[in-house]
Amino acid sequence: MSSNLRIDIDRLQARLAELADIGGIAGTEGCARLAFTDEDRMGRDLVITWMRDLGLEVTIDVLGNAVGIMAGQVDGPPVMCGSHIDTVRTGGRYDGNLGVLAGLEIIETLRAAGVTPKRALAVAFFSNEEGARFSPDMLGSLAYVGGIPVEEALAIVGIDGTTVGDELARIGYDGSAPLPGLVPHTFFELHVEQGPVLENEAVTIGAVNSVQGISWTDVSVVGQSNHAGTTPMTMRKDPGFVAAACATFVRHLCEELGGTQVGTVGRVEFSPNLVNVVPASANFTVDLRNTDEALLQHAERRFHDFLNKTAAAEECTYETRTLARFEPVEFDRELVSLVARTASDLGYSVRTLPSGAGHDAQMLARVCPTAMIFTPSHDGLSHNPAEYTAPEDLEAGANVLLQAMLQVAQA
Ligand code: GLV
Ligand code: MN
Ligand code: MN
Repeated sequence: MSSNLRIDIDRLQARLAELADIGGIAGTEGCARLAFTDEDRMGRDLVITWMRDLGLEVTIDVLGNAVGIMAGQVDGPPVMCGSHIDTVRTGGRYDGNLGVLAGLEIIETLRAAGVTPKRALAVAFFSNEEGARFSPDMLGSLAYVGGIPVEEALAIVGIDGTTVGDELARIGYDGSAPLPGLVPHTFFELHVEQGPVLENEAVTIGAVNSVQGISWTDVSVVGQSNHAGTTPMTMRKDPGFVAAACATFVRHLCEELGGTQVGTVGRVEFSPNLVNVVPASANFTVDLRNTDEALLQHAERRFHDFLNKTAAAEECTYETRTLARFEPVEFDRELVSLVARTASDLGYSVRTLPSGAGHDAQMLARVCPTAMIFTPSHDGLSHNPAEYTAPEDLEAGANVLLQAMLQVAQA
């Protein structure tokens, strides 16, 4: 049963706006705070100031994950919520940030009401969730649960040639708390859906039951650079053609496989990238996702077969490198039911759905009961400065988070 406590949407919106100003993209509501950049540092500084102002005990670990704890009436692991505050270069203000700042709003609501839950509560933000600068995505939460050795994580090289370790130290967030981190009692992540389902069905709350599997591959193709005007089509070894054919293949493969299969070629770079030169090399990424592990493996195989055949026919060589590979994750059934029940009790329409995006919650699910709460995304837009969720939906999501956390913390 939920209590009468409700969050203050104006306070939450004010924090979202203040954080979005850091790295704000001119003329938009969005922001650019790639992991471990100066903008990321400034965002971290602000959120940690807020955490301390709310009286949270803050720890920062060796990968820069931050956890703020509000003591409970009894000892024991906290009921934790959280997400991330890094963004892609063309990010919106809600992706990740909502889950962290809603957590702070919950703490402030409880403080204002003089309520100390039985169990401790915690609000966390995890480093480099986006993976846009350093792969894999969800790196901080992966390390938090012991899914990657710290040394390996620190040595990761980003798209600009820097390493996680150097950049983390440069921005002063190479903390001292060890990893793996404190195992929470339970973990909740409130997040915008980033897709069209809730809005299309006019449903306010998503009780997320799973996250689809993610496969990211970096492909480098090498051919023979030559004159664009003099080289007969039959004599070309064109890595640009291989990249383009692969991008087209990914699209057709997903159309053929149907279901939840999605695929994206999101980054392509040719060298020397000139109008009248057959490229010497092409470098591109492939992002494949499916809710079903076997189907995802099938898609991966089909892509690799196509790449192999096409490169051979063009007399090009290639190398592939796995940037991220995570199997689909199921969330805790009881906790997903609790989210759905809580939303209904509060009078919100609710449906269960899988997540198309990766989330820190999928890593926390390895170590404790975990669930996610989605709110609608206008036009299904995300990883775009135009990302938007209506204030009443943000309020609904934060109230569901508050009441779900309270029920677990008071039990
Ligand atoms: C990470 O946010 C992803 O789903 O790409
Ligand atoms: Mn996110
Ligand atoms: Mn994102």
